[in-house]
Amino acid sequence: MYNPNMLILGIETSCDEPPVAIVEDGIHEIASVLASSADFSIETGGIVPEVAARKQLEFIIPVISKTLEQSHLENSQIDAIAVTVGPGLIGSLIVGVESAKALSFACNKPLIAVNHLIGHIYGNFVDSKKAVEFPALVLVVSGGHTDLVLMKGHGNFEYIGGTLDDAAGETFDKTARLLGISPYYGGAALSKVASECKESNPILKLPRPIMHSNNFDFSFSGLKTAVRTVALAKKFSFELIAKEFEEAIVEVLVFKTIKAAKKYDAKSILLGGGVSANRRLREVIEQESEKNGFNLHVPPLKLCADSAVYIASAGFFNQNKLELKDIQPNPSLGIADEIK
Ligand code: KG4
Ligand code: ZN
Repeated sequence: MYNPNMLILGIETSCDEPPVAIVEDGIHEIASVLASSADFSIETGGIVPEVAARKQLEFIIPVISKTLEQSHLENSQIDAIAVTVGPGLIGSLIVGVESAKALSFACNKPLIAVNHLIGHIYGNFVDSKKAVEFPALVLVVSGGHTDLVLMKGHGNFEYIGGTLDDAAGETFDKTARLLGISPYYGGAALSKVASECKESNPILKLPRPIMHSNNFDFSFSGLKTAVRTVALAKKFSFELIAKEFEEAIVEVLVFKTIKAAKKYDAKSILLGGGVSANRRLREVIEQESEKNGFNLHVPPLKLCADSAVYIASAGFFNQNKLELKDIQPNPSLGIADEIK
């Protein structure tokens, strides 16, 4: 008979979709269910926090039930529950954390608090063929965050740098809206337009903000303003602007990641977050990692976006032993902040 090891049920409600998953020993996906609200957010032109929280509330229990059903497991066979405590939208986080606490109490299973940004990193550990060698230099690029961290081992993260203003995903989204490509979460749509552009024009050169600064921070708000200025001048097609924009942002992200990996003697480079699905970013970081002798790990596409699979995985590898009353949502949790 199949004899599973540690089974963790992960709950991720940092934004507007309630994914739930079950993962064995942090590395094998057993079941995963997501109630998508993308259509809803397109209607409203973006995420409305209050609406997102109400959607979470509506879907969380059915999605938990469906995940258990998909896994063919009983509640009693789950060993622990892992839940995102932040960062994210406060209303949505409350729904996930309170549901997880109720489940933990009712089933008498431990609850593990997970940082959503650390969760993104564990997209590289689930059903992966290559083991990650430490220390690893990690670039987390999501809709709300852009961070570089040194991962010395599980539960051992050092913040190296991050964005001073807009996150990479936010910059993609705002630029996609500005260029009329997509009103909501337009990173992937902008990237598609950029990849299909056959034009080249050496005159159009957007800035690579603070690329040569002597730290590992980023700043993308000026890049967005430069795109607006170029778009208003109407000298270049929006496809060409999208292509040069993508080149600029990817060049800065990869340049600083490789520089940090060299400085901290990293053995591997890891990507995480929604923007790690970007085809051009994956291509350039692969070339540069190979050239500089780093083992590169990128999450499979389905684990770039928000997922409960890697929340369960992060829970397995970072098992904190907090009491239920001490587990609270924290919308502004940073990547290297201790969960208190
Ligand atoms: O990590 P994520 O799913 O949500 C947050 O935790 O924020 O990231 C979502 C972000 C959005 O800004 C979305 O436009 C961006 O990831 N994104 C992309 C691509 N796919 C998703 N950006 C650029 N290229 C893509 N292919
Ligand atoms: Zn995310």
